Amino acid sequence: MGSNPRTAPAPMIVEDWDQLTFRVNREAYRSAEVFARERGWVWMHTWLYLGHETEIPNPNDFKVRTLGGRPLIFCRDSAGEVHAFLNSCPHRGTVLCRETEGSTRLFQCFYHAWTFRNNGEVAAIPDAGAYESSDEFRASMGLRGVARLEIHEGFVFVSFDPDVPPLLDHLGDAADYMTMIEQQHTGGMTTLPGTQLYSVRGNWKLAVENAMDGYHFAPTHNTFVGYLRESGYAVTDDDQYAYNLGNGHGLLVLTGHGGRISMIWEPRFGEDERVRTDAHRAEMTQRLGEERAHHVADESHILFVFPNLLLFDIEGLSIRQLEPVAADQTDVRAWQLVPRTEDPETRALRMKTVVSFVGPGGLATPDDIEAYEAVQRGIQATAGNGRPELDFSDMSRGMADEVKGVQGRSIDEGAMRGFWRHWVEAVGLDGGAEINGERPASFLVGRDLR
Ligand code: FES
Ligand SMILES: [Fe+2]
Repeated sequence: MGSNPRTAPAPMIVEDWDQLTFRVNREAYRSAEVFARERGWVWMHTWLYLGHETEIPNPNDFKVRTLGGRPLIFCRDSAGEVHAFLNSCPHRGTVLCRETEGSTRLFQCFYHAWTFRNNGEVAAIPDAGAYESSDEFRASMGLRGVARLEIHEGFVFVSFDPDVPPLLDHLGDAADYMTMIEQQHTGGMTTLPGTQLYSVRGNWKLAVENAMDGYHFAPTHNTFVGYLRESGYAVTDDDQYAYNLGNGHGLLVLTGHGGRISMIWEPRFGEDERVRTDAHRAEMTQRLGEERAHHVADESHILFVFPNLLLFDIEGLSIRQLEPVAADQTDVRAWQLVPRTEDPETRALRMKTVVSFVGPGGLATPDDIEAYEAVQRGIQATAGNGRPELDFSDMSRGMADEVKGVQGRSIDEGAMRGFWRHWVEAVGLDGGAEINGERPASFLVGRDLR
């Protein structure tokens, strides 16, 4: 752990393949300096999830967003093209759009009334004759866009770095799980209006760990697990796996609890739903083939796309976006993704189920938020206490299997380790990782779908 821990910068992760331990320095969750590096390195140089294309379905629709502390306008111009502009007036920097969402052809700054079209062009500058060569001046004063914008299966990503590799290179193995979502229903998927927004007094990485953590499910969500058992549904951790997908992305594949609306029926969905589920499942097999339909329908997936997107493809489908506000504060925005066309009764059941589990007041999310916040409070106990070796969290579960080339289970911590290894690189901290012993040849990244 460094020769003199009082002077040497402590590593952020310590990975030991002789002892089979993996530790994360708790400063990573609370240091303002680490937070600033995340903003400057991670959020500036990778792809970030902005929103879903279906949130702005019509020409002139817009929503405002914040990514890495930068206010943005996410909009569709009058010709139907999707844009992401910095929500800052090119004149003197004022927040240009002060509504959260709506429909408009023009954005007008309230300060000096400069006006812009929704494709970014200047529409009007009051008293423009006062500027030398007003045509050129106008042309140079359009809205500033993000450096890059790409869309995969309706998921819109942006980057502030013009030199970022193509989105699909970044998504890697995660891309296909987004395709699987789009394949769930013939007509594709759409977001429902409305955003669930909540603020958590905890570091954003605690939310990532929690989503990649099947180990906490039974103890933390024991109310929900009890409810499932009472309704006659067995709950098991067997045949559930955690994958490190590389590039910081992670995946849990779950088959041991909870039904999936319109794909796996279970008693709490009611008898009427059973018939509709069977019919839809048969249609999927015909459309996608047995093998693909199995992965799309029978598996629940919790997918983390580094650094700010979580997709909960479980009972229903929730998109969650993480926006770190400070080392110990995170804003979370969530949207429901639903089939464009489905039976109204199935839709009603879906809404009820999603709200009652992953919604901000559901059976799961408040438990999880309490967990992030309790970690953030608890780690103060070992902060700067003169025994730096105590100031680490343990994520070693499943390393003994990993060295043998055995796929880690969802109740292991392999997906989290993949995240942290990538994070250390992405955040650019010299000496950020201390690796003892040799990483085994069988080291597991990715998932073989066959
Ligand atoms: S700052 Fe927007 S018009 Fe002046
Ligand atoms: Fe949870």
